[in-house]
Amino acid sequence: MAAVFYIFAISLLFSSISGELQNDFPTVVDAKMLGSRKEKLTHFRVYWHDIISGKNPTSIRVVNPPSNVAASSGFGMVSMIDNPLTTGPELSSKMVGRAQGFYALASQEEIGLLMTMNFVFAEGKYNGSTITVMGRNAVFNKVREMPVIGGSGLFRFARGYVQARTHTFDLKSGDATVEYNVYVLHY
Ligand SMILES: *[C@@H]1O[C@H](CO)[C@@H](O)[C@H](O)[C@H]1NC(C)=O
Repeated sequence: MAAVFYIFAISLLFSSISGELQNDFPTVVDAKMLGSRKEKLTHFRVYWHDIISGKNPTSIRVVNPPSNVAASSGFGMVSMIDNPLTTGPELSSKMVGRAQGFYALASQEEIGLLMTMNFVFAEGKYNGSTITVMGRNAVFNKVREMPVIGGSGLFRFARGYVQARTHTFDLKSGDATVEYNVYVLHY
């Protein structure tokens, strides 16, 4: 009797496994769900404001490297950001979104950042759409290129790159304004 029950249980197990394998997960979807839209290349320029000083910083250090392994490159430091993105270099110019994420000092040899951030747009038809930038930023180089690895909303299926150029850097306060030229393919 026990043996019969055992065989029954085993066969139940196998049927449920094969049932799962037969399941249509994932399924192929007709690309027409994108409508008649063609992939297009969009370029825009924004200024990214890293505000460290003052009463309302938009960039705050959340990790300090342990002092016993301190490197002159600051290796190990992590900052969270919610930085304004504006159309002009002045902070008072039109704000079109924010850069939310973090950057970390990821090089033991030089000042080399790992940037991981979402550009969250709040302007016109782009309101609520995002692109995700993740890459290496050697901040003392004139031009730094980083990949756009994805997007949402109007930027679904986004891929592309950004080029960052430091516009101003205040050595005293640590505040920086960086020009970002964004080139993104999307539907
Ligand atoms: C963007 O969308 C939010 C929420 O849907 C809304 O409150 C806001 O007014 C919109 N901003 C613009 C500039 O359209």
